[in-house]
Amino acid sequence: MDISLLRDAVPPLLEWFRVSKRDLPWRRNRIPYTALVAELMLQQTRVEAVKDRFVQFLAAFPTPEALASADEEEVLKLWEGLGYYSRARNLHRAAKVIAEKGFPATFEEMRALPGVGDYTAGAVCSIALGLPVPAVDGNVLRILSRLYADGSNIDDPSTKAGYAALLREVYPPETADFCEALMELGAIVCVPNGAPMCGACPWSGLCRAHLAGREEAFPVRAEKRARRTVDATVCVLRCGGRYALEKRPAKGLLAGLWQFPFFEGDVPDFGPVLKEKRAKHIFTHVEWRMTGRLIETERELAPYIWVGAEELREKYAVPSAFRAFMEWVK
Ligand code: ADE
Repeated sequence: MDISLLRDAVPPLLEWFRVSKRDLPWRRNRIPYTALVAELMLQQTRVEAVKDRFVQFLAAFPTPEALASADEEEVLKLWEGLGYYSRARNLHRAAKVIAEKGFPATFEEMRALPGVGDYTAGAVCSIALGLPVPAVDGNVLRILSRLYADGSNIDDPSTKAGYAALLREVYPPETADFCEALMELGAIVCVPNGAPMCGACPWSGLCRAHLAGREEAFPVRAEKRARRTVDATVCVLRCGGRYALEKRPAKGLLAGLWQFPFFEGDVPDFGPVLKEKRAKHIFTHVEWRMTGRLIETERELAPYIWVGAEELREKYAVPSAFRAFMEWVK
């Protein structure tokens, strides 16, 4: 691909970013640890959902040492609602490595931390260490496939590798701004859903897709895999103001997190159903279609643990998949 096109695209992008960037909490400093926390939170999660969580998390765990010595339950609690909880566990493990060995100084060391892939390692290297390592996510694939009017399938790993190689060649000294500017253009101008705002784009005079009036023909991707649906019954069991919780299995979806008793097949007869409502939750590969039931039981049944409403809200990380049923916890 024509490298001069990308080279020409760097200065207007940096200039646009200086003027147009959003004021986001993780942009207020370039501390490696906080950059790592931000990038892990931002994986597959919207900026709006991350903002407050990021601030709260760093207030609780301001340093890798503070995080390393925290309890896993405490860490998961602060991750509540962000989803993909294995990221929280990995971050906790990464903090232990960092507390012991210091913060990684190279891409390879960064990449070796638990939960850190090419994208996150590239972003933290660029943003906090001043290293010219590309971070190619969906936003970056979209803007580059449009810039080049490139019909390669963006779900093909070689497409990503190709763009990473191209970016490496044009990396400017302002590594943090460049990395964030690429993401930012994809997030606020060359948006993922709906029409891009080409009138506000620093690349409108360069972008081959725009010049051909074919922005929406890119990026090209393989057909999405169908999502599996799972029907489940979620039993909010209450006994004298206390609620039953169980821990999810250690492997799989929402591993090790707390939930109301959850049944994919037959449901035991816990007694009369006081309220019932439906809710669904969409994960990457699975959709849960849930029927929630509020039931008052006569005893605190085994094998569940039973906790008061306040304790449940404050101490237990209940995934947002179950948010619809939290209104019954009073
Ligand atoms: N998405 C992933 N990393 C990001 C960052 N540093 N700023 C904004 N959005 C992001």
